[in-house]
Amino acid sequence: MTAPAGVPPRPAPVDLARHVHLRGVFEPQRTEIDVAGLAVAGEIPRGLRGTYLRNGPNPRFDPIGSYLYPLDGDAMVHRIELADGSARYTNRFVRTPMVVAEEAAGHAIWSGITDGYTPSAAEVGADLAGTMRHLPDINIVRHGGRLLAMAEGDQPYRLDPGDLATLGRDPCDGAMAVGSTAHPKIDPATGEMVLFTYALEAPFLTWSTVAPDGRATREPTPIDGLAEPLMIHDMALTSRYIVLFACPLVFDIAAVMTGGSLLDWRPESGTRIALVPRDGGPVRWLSDEAFWVWHVANAYDEPSGEVVVDYVEWRYPGGLAAVSTPNAGRLVRARLDPAGRVDRTVVADRSMEFPRVDDRSLTTEHRHVATVGLGRGPDPTDTLLFHDLHTGTETEWDPGLSMGEPVYIPHDDGDLWGVIATDPTDLTSAFHLVAVADPGGGPIASIALPQRVPAGLHGAWLPDVGMDAARG
Ligand SMILES: [Fe+2]
Repeated sequence: MTAPAGVPPRPAPVDLARHVHLRGVFEPQRTEIDVAGLAVAGEIPRGLRGTYLRNGPNPRFDPIGSYLYPLDGDAMVHRIELADGSARYTNRFVRTPMVVAEEAAGHAIWSGITDGYTPSAAEVGADLAGTMRHLPDINIVRHGGRLLAMAEGDQPYRLDPGDLATLGRDPCDGAMAVGSTAHPKIDPATGEMVLFTYALEAPFLTWSTVAPDGRATREPTPIDGLAEPLMIHDMALTSRYIVLFACPLVFDIAAVMTGGSLLDWRPESGTRIALVPRDGGPVRWLSDEAFWVWHVANAYDEPSGEVVVDYVEWRYPGGLAAVSTPNAGRLVRARLDPAGRVDRTVVADRSMEFPRVDDRSLTTEHRHVATVGLGRGPDPTDTLLFHDLHTGTETEWDPGLSMGEPVYIPHDDGDLWGVIATDPTDLTSAFHLVAVADPGGGPIASIALPQRVPAGLHGAWLPDVGMDAARG
C-alpha cells in the first residue's frame, strides 16, 4: 500500500529469522497467563513468602524498521509468587498507548528508536502522531505505594500490583517530571528513593528524591559540570553521595540529522565520575581513562571519606559503539577519593553482567555479589558467578542454561538467590532458588514455569505476596 502524499511509508518488517534478539531464548512471548500450583523439583522452603517480578523487552507485535536490543521492545512483566511451599506464575504486557493502538490495529505501527520514523495522525490520531514508542521495559521497582515499570530517561508506568494491569504513566509526584533512570536506588536506612535522569538538552543531568510515603522531596535538580548529553544507565548510592559514571558515549543529534549514529563513543574524552552530595552540596567530578559501565553492584562510604563502588567495567559499550578490540565486562572495585584520585582494581577477571547484591545492604558494605557470566568451553552458555568479597572466593553454577539476572532473597532459614533461566535446547524456563551459603551446589528448588520466559532484564524480590503486595 502506498502512503498518502507527505506521509512517510511504514518501515518494512524486521527479518526475524536473522535477528538474534528476536528468536531462540529471546523470542517474544505473546501469551498472557495466570497459573497456580507450579511443578517443583526439590522443595520451596515452606516459610518463604514473597513475590519475584521481572521486566524485559518483549515486542507486542513483530517489529518493523529496526530492533536494537536491549533498547527497543514493549514491556512484559513476569511474576512468580511463593507461599506455603507452592508457586504461581502470572505475566502481563505493560499497555502503553502504543501497545493499545497496535492491538487495535493488529500489527506494529511504531518503529525502532534508532529509525527516526514516527506514525502520522492519519495512522494513529492527533494525540499519538509524531510520538516515539514508550519503553518501560527495563526494570520494575516498588516504592512509596507504587509499583513502577521503569524506562530509561523517561517516566515509568504504574501497575496494579494485584492483577498487573497498567494504570498509566506516573511521574512520582514530580520527582520524575523529566524522566528517570531505570535504576533508581532505595536507601534501606531511610526508605528514600534517589534517582537521576539524563536529557538531550542542558543541564543534561538532574537528580531528585522521593520519600517513603511517595511524596517528591526534591524536584529535579541540575547536576552541574556536564557539557554534552551522555548516556548513563545506572547509578550507585552511598549514605552521602550519588555516584554516576559519565562515560564518553555521546548523543550526537547533528549526526542523526545527516544519517549518522545517534550515539558516538569518544574515548579520547575519558570517563568522568560524579559524586553528587545527597545534602545538596557542590558536585565533585573525578577523571580517569575511558571505560564503560552499564551496571553497578553497590557503593558505600569509608570512614576515611573515600567512596567504594563495585561495578562491571567494559572497555566500550559493545553493541552500541563500533570498536573492534577485545571487550569483556569485569567486576571492578573503584576507590574514589572526593579530592580527585580514582583507584580501580579488578575483582573478577571474567566476562559478566547483571551484578546484584542483597538490596538491604545498598549504601553500606556488602559481602555477596552475583553476576551472570559467560561459561567456559568452545560454545559456552551463561553461568551464574557468586563472588564472596569477605573470603575472596568465586563460585559458579553452570548447568548450560540461558541465565537471567540473579536476585537476592532474604529468608530466615538461609538466604537464597533466585533466577529465571531457560534451557536453550528445549526452550523451557524455570525459576531456580540457590542457597547463598552453597551456590555451587545448584538449586534447592527449581520451579517449572508454564511457558517460556524470554531472556530479559531486571527484577525485584518483594517479601510479600498477593494482597500483601497489593498494599505495597
Ligand atoms: Fe540495566
